[in-house]
Amino acid sequence: MFKKNKVLIIGSDHGGYKLKEFLKEKLIKKGYKLKDYGTYSEKSIDYPDIIHPLSKSINNSEHEIGIIICGSGNGAQMTANKYPNVRAALCWNVEQAKLSRLHNDANIISLPGRFIDEETAFKMVEIFLNTEFEGGRHKKRVEKISKII
Ligand code: RB5
Repeated sequence: MFKKNKVLIIGSDHGGYKLKEFLKEKLIKKGYKLKDYGTYSEKSIDYPDIIHPLSKSINNSEHEIGIIICGSGNGAQMTANKYPNVRAALCWNVEQAKLSRLHNDANIISLPGRFIDEETAFKMVEIFLNTEFEGGRHKKRVEKISKII
């Protein structure tokens, strides 16, 4: 459960810009405090330039939860998951968003801005922010993610 007194972070490339702006407005109306890592227009940019600083701040515990958006959600997620303490989940629907918290303790949700509608995206973010990690058998699985062989 993400507490509204903490700062929620969000970032996108141009492919996610419109959805980012939509989500920001809805989340602020709901009482969330947001830090926007950009981008700030639909001008073409490289998604890693936005996603690296955002992910770094999750990696070093400066922030707890993030929302990232690019056209497909893939490039943003791949960049974020380079950071050892980041678990970024690419989600396409509400159930996936919920499961990514319940089973994977995801700390970033990655959204495909060009493929999902705005209201669905908002519902996905809300459930992501309000679902606790289940722990139990999933804890040891999540711990094994970083144990590359
Ligand atoms: C930008 O055109 C697009 O490649 C980007 O938003 C994203 O989909 C990359 O994975």
